[in-house]
Amino acid sequence: MCGIFGYVGSQSNAANLVLEGLKLLEYRGYDSWGIAVKKGKTIAVDKHVGKIGDASVSLAQSTIGIGHTRWATHGGVTVANAHPHLDCKKTIAVIHNGIIENFSEIKKELIKKGHTFISETDTEVVSHLIEENLKKVGFASAVRDAFNRLHGLNAIVVMYAPSKEIVAAKTGSPLVIGVGENELFVASDAVGIVKHTRNVIFLEDNQMAVLGYKLKLIRLPHGKEIPPKIHRINWEFEQVSKGKYKHFLLKEINEQPVVLKNIALHHNEQARILAKVIGDAFGTFMLGCGTASYAALAGTYIFSHIAKKHVNFSIGSEFNYLEDYLTNRSLVIPISQSGETIDVVEPVERAKEKGATIAAIVNVLGSTLYRQAKYKILLGAGPEKAVVGTKSFTAMVAELLLCAYTFISKQRDGRQLLLETAKDVASILGDISISKIKKVAQTLKNREHIYIIGRGLSYATALEAALKIKETSYIHAEGFAGGELKHGVIALIEKGTPCIVIAPNDETYEDIVSNAQEIKARGGYIIGIGPKNNDVFAEWLPTADTKEATMLSQIVISQLLAYYLALARGIKDPDKPRNLAKSVTVK
Ligand code: F6R
Repeated sequence: MCGIFGYVGSQSNAANLVLEGLKLLEYRGYDSWGIAVKKGKTIAVDKHVGKIGDASVSLAQSTIGIGHTRWATHGGVTVANAHPHLDCKKTIAVIHNGIIENFSEIKKELIKKGHTFISETDTEVVSHLIEENLKKVGFASAVRDAFNRLHGLNAIVVMYAPSKEIVAAKTGSPLVIGVGENELFVASDAVGIVKHTRNVIFLEDNQMAVLGYKLKLIRLPHGKEIPPKIHRINWEFEQVSKGKYKHFLLKEINEQPVVLKNIALHHNEQARILAKVIGDAFGTFMLGCGTASYAALAGTYIFSHIAKKHVNFSIGSEFNYLEDYLTNRSLVIPISQSGETIDVVEPVERAKEKGATIAAIVNVLGSTLYRQAKYKILLGAGPEKAVVGTKSFTAMVAELLLCAYTFISKQRDGRQLLLETAKDVASILGDISISKIKKVAQTLKNREHIYIIGRGLSYATALEAALKIKETSYIHAEGFAGGELKHGVIALIEKGTPCIVIAPNDETYEDIVSNAQEIKARGGYIIGIGPKNNDVFAEWLPTADTKEATMLSQIVISQLLAYYLALARGIKDPDKPRNLAKSVTVK
C-alpha cells in the first residue's frame, strides 16, 4: 500500500517528475499525498488530503525530490499525517510504506531527547531518529542506523537538504530503482518508472540503496556493498496509461482476450514445469487473498475435475493455522497479482523455513513472492492499475487450467479451450452483450442486496462475481454454494430479491437450476449466466460453452455488470474504490 516515488538526476523539474510518478502509482493509496524537493540547503514541501487527480505543484526547481500517496494506517487522513515527514530542523524528509511496530517506544525516547512531533504517524519517528544519528555519522549511515532500529516490514526513502543523494531501504514493502541516463528513480512499483527507463533493480529485503551521482547498493544491517542486478522490463509506457478508455477498469476488462490468447500460445513450458512440480509433491497448497483466493479455490475444482488430483486451498491469512501439515515434501503455490500481499508473503516465508517447495504464480516480475519462489510462473497479464482485479484473475485461472490439462498430457485441449474462450470474451465485450449487461445494471442499481449462486467450479465464480459487485458498486453482494441455500440462506429471499445464477453446461446445471426455481418460488428475480437459457431466468446473459473455461466468460460478464452498476449508481472513479488500495503490504 502507499505509492512512493523519488528522483535524483540532471533534470531540474524534480517536483513535476515526482508528481507524474505519483499519479501513475496512485492506485496504491489515495487518501492523501505529498511531495518534497531539495531547495538549496532546505527542503520545500507540498502536502494535500484527497486524491491526486489532476493536481499540479508549484515547488522550487530542483534536481532531487521524493513523494508519496498514502493509505492511512497510523493517524487519520490529515495534511499533518500525509508524507513526507520532516525532522525538527526541517532538513530531512522521509516517506514510508509499512508499519513500524516499535514506533511508540522510539517516539518516547526521542521526545525525552527534546524532539517535537507534529503528526500521529509512525513514520515521523524515522526523520527524528535520522536527525539524532546525524550528530554522530554521515547521511547514509544515519539512515542505515535508523532503519536498523525499526521493527516490522518497512520501506523508506529519505532526502537530506545538504546532500545530493537520496537513500532508500527496505525490509518488506517493495521498492524498485530505475536506472536512466544521468538519473535514478525509486518507486514502489515499476509502473511509475517505465516512462523514463525500462532498466530496473528490484531492491531486496534488508538492502539499502544510495541514489546520487552513482548508485550504491548496500546489504543491511552492516553496510557491505553489493553489485546491482539490472532487469529489463518488457512492457511499454502505453500499457500503464488509459488510452481510449475512461477507466483503467474498463481497459483491463477489455484486455482479457489478449491475456487469454497469450497464455494459450506462450505459456506451455510454464504449465509443464508447474504440472511436474505438482506431480512430484506430497501435498500441494494453493494460497491467495481476495480475488486471488477465488482463483486458488477454482484451482482445487479444476485439478480435481480435469487432473483427478487433490490440491488444497487456503486463504493466505488463514494458512498460519494450517501450516502444521507442511513438510519438506510439501508444495506451496502462492497466487498473487502483485506478488507483494503480506498475508501470502509471510506464510510462504514460514513454509520455506519448513523446507516446503515454493512455486509462485504472480503477475509482477521481481516481486517478493517471485523472489521467494524456486519455480516462478509469470502471468504476463501486463500492469493492472485498477484497484479491482480483473485480468489478473482470468490469467490465474487460465494458467491453472492449462496446467491441469498439461498434467494429464492434454495440453493441446487446454490451449484450444482458452483460445475459444478468448473469442467468446471478445464477443461479450461487443455491443450486443454490453447493452444487455447495461440493462441488467439499470434493473439492479437500486437494490440493497444481490445474491449469486453456483456449484462446483461455479461456486468460486459466484464468490468472485460477488466481490466484484461489492467493491465496485458498493451494493451488498454475496456468493453462495447453491446447495447451501436450504441450510439457511434462502431465508433472505423475498419478493424481487435479485439472484444471479452461474449456470455452465456441466454436471451442476440441473441442480443449480433447481436452486434457482426454489428462489423464484419465493419471489426472487433470477438472472442466469451461461451457455443455456432456461425458463426460470428472468434475464439471461449468454456465454459460449467452453467446458471449465466457461467460468472465464461468466466472470467477464460479472466484471462488466459490476462496472456498469458502479456507473449507474453515479460512482465517479471505479478505478479507486473507497477504503481500498492495490497491493496490500500491511497486515
Ligand atoms: C479484489 C482484489 C483483491 C486482491 C487481493 C490480493 O478485486 O483485487 O482482493 O485480489 O488483495 O492481491 P494480490 O493478487 O496482489 O495478491
